[in-house]
Amino acid sequence: MKFFADTAEIDDIKELAATGLLDGVTTNPSLIHKSGRDFMEVTKEICGITDGPVSAEVVALDHETMMREAEVLRKIADNVCIKVPLTIDGLKTCKALTGDGTMVNVTLCFSANQALLAAKAGASFISPFVGRHDDNGFDGMDLIEDIRLIYDNYMFETEILVASVRHVTHVLESAKIGADVMTAPPKVIKALFNHTLTDKGIDAFMADWAKTGQKIV
Ligand code: E4P
Repeated sequence: MKFFADTAEIDDIKELAATGLLDGVTTNPSLIHKSGRDFMEVTKEICGITDGPVSAEVVALDHETMMREAEVLRKIADNVCIKVPLTIDGLKTCKALTGDGTMVNVTLCFSANQALLAAKAGASFISPFVGRHDDNGFDGMDLIEDIRLIYDNYMFETEILVASVRHVTHVLESAKIGADVMTAPPKVIKALFNHTLTDKGIDAFMADWAKTGQKIV
């Protein structure tokens, strides 16, 4: 499963990229607002940190303007992935862009039928929002299971990008279901490394090693 960072914070992206485990980045208008940075500048900077797809979202709601925005965004770098909302105009835009080889991430997916439509429109990625689904009284992971089943039934190549990830259990469940990608805030990705028994084990080994009085280097 690929790991994308769901953020526009450069320091966090650099820190995660340095682990060698970062496969891409997703942003959205709220994350750009939170960063306080210029959209075009920060997107270009992120594209220079990772070779993987960097999702940059259109903000128009109609197909023609989405196409014009996508034209500007895809010139930022070769690894820009145009993010469009799951609407009729968004999917029309998805079909047109993927038809000429541009990567497209269809966002704000809350049903398996919507995911089916995105795959038919040739989406490179579909982004079901599990955390927001949970918040509204549904089980976000059920949605991922349904999409996996449907995509496998018809051998769609659209990658399932689990989004709105709130905690490490969302990551675990995504991997068990066989999602292709998950995007999470840096703090959730960093939490994946932690276990209290790992810390306890290191403390015990260090204490015993100190007692030997030896050095490796
Ligand atoms: C995905 O691409 C979105 O940017 C993101 O996962 C939304 O997450 P949120 O529900 O925590 O805002």
